[in-house]
Amino acid sequence: MSTPNPRTRAQQSKRTVSIIGTGSYLPERVLTNAELTKLVETSDEWIVSRTGIKERRVCAEGEATSDLAANAAQAALENAGIGADEVDLIIVATVTPDMFFPSTACFVQQKIGAKNAACFDVSAACAGFLYAIEIAQQFITSHTYDTVLVIGADKLTSIVDWTDRNTCVLFGDGAGAAVLRHRGGGHGVISTFMASDGGLSDILYIPGGGSRFPAVDEKTGERLNCIKMAGKETYKHAVTSMLDAANKALADANLDPEDLACIIPHQANLRIIEAIADRMKVPMERFMINLDRYGNTSAGAVAIALDEANRTGRMKVGDYVLLVVFGGGLTWAASVIQW
Ligand SMILES: CC(C)(COP(=O)(O)OP(=O)(O)OC[C@H]1O[C@@H](n2cnc3c(N)ncnc32)[C@H](O)[C@@H]1OP(=O)(O)O)[C@@H](O)C(=O)NCCC(=O)NCCS
Repeated sequence: MSTPNPRTRAQQSKRTVSIIGTGSYLPERVLTNAELTKLVETSDEWIVSRTGIKERRVCAEGEATSDLAANAAQAALENAGIGADEVDLIIVATVTPDMFFPSTACFVQQKIGAKNAACFDVSAACAGFLYAIEIAQQFITSHTYDTVLVIGADKLTSIVDWTDRNTCVLFGDGAGAAVLRHRGGGHGVISTFMASDGGLSDILYIPGGGSRFPAVDEKTGERLNCIKMAGKETYKHAVTSMLDAANKALADANLDPEDLACIIPHQANLRIIEAIADRMKVPMERFMINLDRYGNTSAGAVAIALDEANRTGRMKVGDYVLLVVFGGGLTWAASVIQW
């Protein structure tokens, strides 16, 4: 048993925090692997065998991250059976905000009419949704807020270099959302774990377009505002970090991997998930996987998979569910929830 995670609060608190509704939204336009072979030198066989991805979704002209997020939020509110005016706080996890400011959460507030909510964004790349869940939990257990809307949303195709075959085949657009609220009966978030390593920021990042570098290098013309990735390094850290986070969250929950009815991992690469399943000794059937249809939608990925698991009845009341993510930063996180 590892040392208890000091960040865990829900277990010690009397106020359990439950996910009372989920939603997701994927843009209609499907981009297949076959279409990508017209942009870069690649093949359907290479992409499927190396990643498991067959197709991904791409935003329509004029569709931005807040549009994805607002649609997912609306679906989550309907699923929870509550009105937008009951939301006290909106947190959007994204690395592709509509603008530097206002926050994407503010745009979502306006679109869904959540006039009573405070709003802000969280930047933790693909781990953002679980970071936001942890933040929401803190606000609810501390009695600051009752109802928090957490959204993971990214329009990653807006920051993909469509001439770089190492990255452009991996990503897609989409959003998922969850409504969190105190609910009696003991069900809810049992443990959470978050971690970061800024020392590895240069294996997965977007160098330009912020306050350090321009979007395009004036001398070389290099697109610094697009995703740069050291694939193999990222792969290695994804496996070890997600295992580390899973083990810590499970230890805090006093559970073993075999107690889990469903595992919802970051949807980056099927081989990464298989490696984790192998090391955790949990059969692949217990893992929720939809990356074949959507690719890696960054902060949206686990949120979308959670909604699909919810709507397809993969989680029954009382089941233990593990959410586990990994992203640029580096950032990684896990959460055990009793559904
Ligand atoms: C990117 C990734 C799929 C590459 O798979 P891999 O097994 O490491 O790749 P391999 O070593 O077998 O192949 C690399 C070769 O394929 C080539 N290649 C890269 N992308 C390709 C593509 N889309 N089509 C064809 N060939 C490609 C490379 O140029 C390289 O060629 P070289 O050996 O001649 O230099 C894998 O490393 C990965 O998934 N990493 C993690 C990415 C990730 O999850 N990022 C987001 C985290 S949130």
